[in-house]
Amino acid sequence: MISSVTLKIVVIGVGIIGPRHAKHVIENPHTDLFGIVDPGPAGPGVAKELKVDHFSSIQNMIQFCNETNTNYPDGAIVCTPNSTHVKVAAELASHGIHLLVEKPLSPSPAEAIALKNYVDSKGVKLLVGHHRRFNPHIVATKENLHKVGKIIAVQGTWTLRKPSAYFESATWRTDINTGGGVLMINLIHDIDLLQYMFGPIERVYAELLPKQKLQYPNVDEGAVLTIRFKSGTCGTFVCSDSVTSPFNFESGTGENPTIPHHEDLEGLYRIFGTEGTLSVPDFTLYHQQSNGECKQEEPSWLNPIQRESVVKDRDLELHSHLPFDLQLNHFVDVIRGNVDPFCSAQDGMSSSLCIEAVLKSIETELPQRVSDCSTIKPDYESLGLKEKLNLP
Ligand SMILES: NC(=O)c1ccc[n+]([C@@H]2O[C@H](COP(=O)([O-])OP(=O)(O)OC[C@H]3O[C@@H](n4cnc5c(N)ncnc54)[C@H](O)[C@@H]3O)[C@@H](O)[C@H]2O)c1
Repeated sequence: MISSVTLKIVVIGVGIIGPRHAKHVIENPHTDLFGIVDPGPAGPGVAKELKVDHFSSIQNMIQFCNETNTNYPDGAIVCTPNSTHVKVAAELASHGIHLLVEKPLSPSPAEAIALKNYVDSKGVKLLVGHHRRFNPHIVATKENLHKVGKIIAVQGTWTLRKPSAYFESATWRTDINTGGGVLMINLIHDIDLLQYMFGPIERVYAELLPKQKLQYPNVDEGAVLTIRFKSGTCGTFVCSDSVTSPFNFESGTGENPTIPHHEDLEGLYRIFGTEGTLSVPDFTLYHQQSNGECKQEEPSWLNPIQRESVVKDRDLELHSHLPFDLQLNHFVDVIRGNVDPFCSAQDGMSSSLCIEAVLKSIETELPQRVSDCSTIKPDYESLGLKEKLNLP
């Protein structure tokens, strides 16, 4: 049961992203930070800085609530390493705590499906943290898609160079078995956006990029993809965390306070249609529409292409905190039962299935169909629960 008007939110895991979520919770008028849970050495210091309670486990937090007659938190934001999401989220759901789970919902689709079935059975709400859906650049892209006519193809890029400390500070990032690798950590954001904008992906083919970080043999550094959507639209995508490049969502939009904004970047996404091409994040529309003075002949290569800015003042008033704030407001609405999750467990599973197909394609050197959720057997053991489950 929801305990109060201002929702109490606990943040689970306070490495890179957890403290950022926690600050948003503190600043949001609809939420209070209940505390943080983290068994690692950083936990007590972060809690002290944020002036909240620290718990070394979810079990300890629950025990504290029971002993002090305190209501459980209304919601939790799960910011633990990728391969721990399902177990952590299931434990919270077993106490009726609603969930915002960072992406990926799980590196394993079988675990993700088990979690979805379990939370549904408990009446617990689950939102997946693909916060870029709330980014004004993505909102504006969606609004302007119709201007290109029928969408035939898309091209996208997420390329940059991560610092050594990123890998040295958290070993889970250096092994695919713990959810590491740029495909699982970063490409999954773009996969979510691509499906959000162009519908389900049906098939992928991926070529692994050459390895630069030889000290981490069990993790990918990116791939070049060809993608076929169910609609028939096709695309290509380049993803790498080993190259020097500003062509990535964060640099292009300025949404991440730790990655410098590269002003005037063009063509992170290029969306090619029968009537025009839209370039993002610059929002240049290339087209051959009539200017109203002379009747336009059939558009073709014989005529000049016009360039038009379809979003004025391309900065879109974007503050780096905006997508996280909007996501948190939405989580509040989801917990209150006002709306369904904008990025649902089904959406999260769908992205995981696409990454699974990418990894299989790399392994087999063949194109791979993205599996249908209904063909995947849920892995209920991964929930790590003692209660007897009566689930499909
Ligand atoms: N949405 C985004 O833009 C974004 C950005 C960064 C990370 N992420 C996602 O957030 C998650 C965390 O990433 P990170 O880079 O902050 O990781 P991190 O390694 O920096 O931090 C993870 C923290 O979780 C703690 N932890 C581990 N097991 C735990 C458990 N069972 N209970 C509580 N705490 C536990 C660790 O001690 C650590 O402090 C990942 O899933 C990642 O993919 C999302």
